[in-house]
Amino acid sequence: MKSSLLLLSAFAALLLAIFASLNPNRQWLSWRSPAADLVVKNAKIYTVDESLPFADSMAVRNGRILRIGSYSSVQDMVGYGTKVLDLKGKIVVPGFIDSHVHLIFGGLQMMRVELHGINSKDEFVKRIKEAVRNAKQGSWILGGGWNNDLWGGELPLASWIDDITPYNPVFLSRMDGHMSLANSVALKLGGITKSSVDPNGGTIMKTTSGEPTGLLIDSAMEHILPLIPEVSVEERREALHKASNHALMRGVTTVVDVGRYFPGTSVKDSWEDFSDVYQWADFSGKMTIRVCLFFPLETWSRLRDLINNVGQSMSQWIYLGGVKAFADGSLGSRSALFYEPYVDEPHNYGLQVGDYESLHNLTLASDRVGLQVAIHAIGDRANDLILDMYESVISKNGVRDRRFRIEHAQHLAPGTPARFGKLGIVASVQPEHLLADAESVNKKLGIDRAQRSYLFKSLLGSNVELAFGSDWPVVDINPLGGIKTAMKRMPPAWDIAWVPSESVSLNDSLKAYTLSAARACFLDSDLGSLSPGKLADFVVLSIYSWDDFVAEGSAFIDATYVGGVQAYP
Ligand SMILES: *[C@@H]1O[C@H](CO)[C@@H](O)[C@H](O)[C@H]1NC(C)=O
Ligand SMILES: *[C@@H]1O[C@H](CO)[C@@H](O)[C@H](O)[C@H]1NC(C)=O
Repeated sequence: MKSSLLLLSAFAALLLAIFASLNPNRQWLSWRSPAADLVVKNAKIYTVDESLPFADSMAVRNGRILRIGSYSSVQDMVGYGTKVLDLKGKIVVPGFIDSHVHLIFGGLQMMRVELHGINSKDEFVKRIKEAVRNAKQGSWILGGGWNNDLWGGELPLASWIDDITPYNPVFLSRMDGHMSLANSVALKLGGITKSSVDPNGGTIMKTTSGEPTGLLIDSAMEHILPLIPEVSVEERREALHKASNHALMRGVTTVVDVGRYFPGTSVKDSWEDFSDVYQWADFSGKMTIRVCLFFPLETWSRLRDLINNVGQSMSQWIYLGGVKAFADGSLGSRSALFYEPYVDEPHNYGLQVGDYESLHNLTLASDRVGLQVAIHAIGDRANDLILDMYESVISKNGVRDRRFRIEHAQHLAPGTPARFGKLGIVASVQPEHLLADAESVNKKLGIDRAQRSYLFKSLLGSNVELAFGSDWPVVDINPLGGIKTAMKRMPPAWDIAWVPSESVSLNDSLKAYTLSAARACFLDSDLGSLSPGKLADFVVLSIYSWDDFVAEGSAFIDATYVGGVQAYP
C-alpha cells in the first residue's frame, strides 16, 4: 500500500515537471498559487488606498481582492478558468457607496407619477392629466419630485388639478418629501377643512380666507398618509429590483438605506420593508447591491434584538447599520430649523421635529447597546441641537468609536464644522442638493447665511469624516454628478460658483463616495477601497484620464462589478 502511494506521487511529480517545462509561465499550476476568478489588467485603478494609490491590475477570487498592483504581481494568478479583463487604459474606481438613500421609496417613485425637473405649471398639470387617463376611477394618484423653485417659486394648489381629477384622490410630494399637494378629493377624505388646526410639527396651508390650499407640510401630511392604500408586497419587491438596477447603472454598489421618506410614517414601513423585501430578497438570492439599513430610532430595542439573533452582517448583502431620527424639516419646505427666521417669512424659524428630551433619551439608550445613531439636521440650529445632544450622550456613555452621524449638515453656524471634528461626528452630506437649493437660497436665507451652506471644505479642514450621498429619490442617484458638483459648486443658472472656497478636490470627492462613506457606516474593513482582502466591488469608467471629466467633460459608467461579478450592464 505504502509503496504504491509512493510510486503514484513520484509519477505525479514527474508529470508536473514535464508540464512545467512545457509551460514556463506555470499559469496552470493552480495548486501552487490558486487561480483567480477574475484578473483585471491594463486599467488605471484608483484604489483609494493610501498604501498603494494607483495600480494597473487586480486579481479577484471568491468575490474578494487577492492582489492588486502591477500585472507582473498578479500574472501568476491567471489560471484555468480565470476571466481576464483587459481594460485598455480605462479608469477603475471602487464601487460607489451612496450614504443616504430611500431605496424602496425611490423604486416605488420610479413606478409612479414622476414630477422631477418639471419647470412649468402647464407641464405639471399635463403629467397629472396623463396619470388620470391611466388610472381607475377612485384610485389614488401618487407621485412626487416637484420643485416649485423651478417655475419661479409659486406653490402648487389643489385648484390647479381639481377639475381634471374629480374622482381620484391625488397626493404628490415635493422633491424633499417635506411638503405634499393633495387635491380636493384627498382633502375631503382626510377631513381637512377650513376649521382644521395645524398639528404639532406641521402646517396646513390656507388661503387668506382660510380655505386649505391643498398643501400639507411635514406632520400635516399625517391627515392623508394613513388613507393611502398600502403598497403591495409585490410592488415593493419590484421597487427594490428597479432601484438596485438603477443604482448599479450609476456605479453604486452599496447604499445606506435610511428608510422611507416621510418623517412620522417610517416606523412600520422600515420594518415591513426589512422583512417583506430585504430578507425575502436575501433568502431567495435576489440581492444585487449591498445595503446598510437604518431603522427608526424609537425601535432601537427591536434592532438590538435582531442583531443579537442574526448578527450585524446578516449576509454579504445586508448589514444592519443603526437607527435614525429627524431633528428638523427641509430648506425647500421652509421647515429646516434656524437661529434666524426665513428672510421672506420673518416669523418662521423652521420646525423642530420631535422633542429634545426624548431624542436624547432614545439616543442614550441606543448608544449604550452599541447601535450607531444618525440624525437628520439641515438648519444651523438643528445641527447645533444635535451636536449638543451627541456631546451629552458621549459624556454620559463614555468615549468609544461610535461614529455618530448627522444627515445633511447643510447650513452651519460659524464654529460648527470645528465641533463636528472635535466630537468625531460624521457629516453625511449630499452635494447635488446645492443645485436645487441655489434657485431660492438667497431669497430664503439672504446672502450671508447662504455662504454658510454645504461647507464641505471646512468640514474636511476640521478632520470630519465626510460621506457623500444623493438622498435619492430627492435627487437622482449619480455619484459622478455628485463628485462634479462638490468640485465645482456651479448651479445651472448661476455665473459664479456657490462659495467656491468650499469646493473640494477630485481626490477628496472620490474618497467621500468610497472609503469615507464605508467608514461612516462601519463597513470599511470590507468596502471603500480596492485593497487586498476587501470585497471586489468596482466600477469601470468610460474615460482614460480625469482631465476630461474635470474640465467640463463627462464620464459614464462602462461597467459595475459586485464581488468580482459583472452586475451592469
Ligand atoms: C490625489 O491622490 C493621489 C494618490 O494618493 C496623489 O498621487 C495625487 O497627488 C493627489 N492629487 C491631489 C491633487 O491631491
Ligand atoms: C428621559 O429620561 C429621564 C431619566 O430616565 C426621565 O425622567 C424622563 O421622563 C425621560 N423623558 C422622556 C421624554 O422620555
